[in-house]
Amino acid sequence: FTDRTFVMIKPDGVQRGLVGDIVARFEHRGLKIAAMKMLLVSEDLAKKHYEEHAAKPFFPNLVSFIRSGPVVAMVVEGKDVVPMVRSMVGATNPKNSNPGTIRGDFAVDMGRNVIHASDSPESAKREISLYFNTSEIATYKRID
Ligand code: CMP
Repeated sequence: FTDRTFVMIKPDGVQRGLVGDIVARFEHRGLKIAAMKMLLVSEDLAKKHYEEHAAKPFFPNLVSFIRSGPVVAMVVEGKDVVPMVRSMVGATNPKNSNPGTIRGDFAVDMGRNVIHASDSPESAKREISLYFNTSEIATYKRID
């Protein structure tokens, strides 16, 4: 079974018209987009998604930011896809996100950082199930 990760283009990425550029990076790398949809995140979903940060001072901002506009949620598949996508996304702190990474090329703020990607296979499983039903995840052959 190939690995899966959860990726979400945040409201700033959608509003800045970066959806195509970001999806292209995953496609061109050879990863498979197994599911993708645009949605507005409910308050309940936002709180569940970020539950590990519930006690942090920036939690209310995190929840309101993710709900400030539509997001594009994706399931991406490939061998060792979780660390691979994290390396493509770049560091959370923009000071440390290298050029060539999505955040290093497109973001300067800690909060408005364009994209979310799961940090472990366990988080990926949890996040995928929050955003997608199994029937929404496609099976097809990725040709390289
Ligand atoms: P992400 O990795 O998608 O999920 C957790 C988010 O918390 C992270 O992106 C940042 O956008 C945000 N975050 C982490 N640390 C801080 C911080 N010190 N101040 C504001 N936002 C933060």
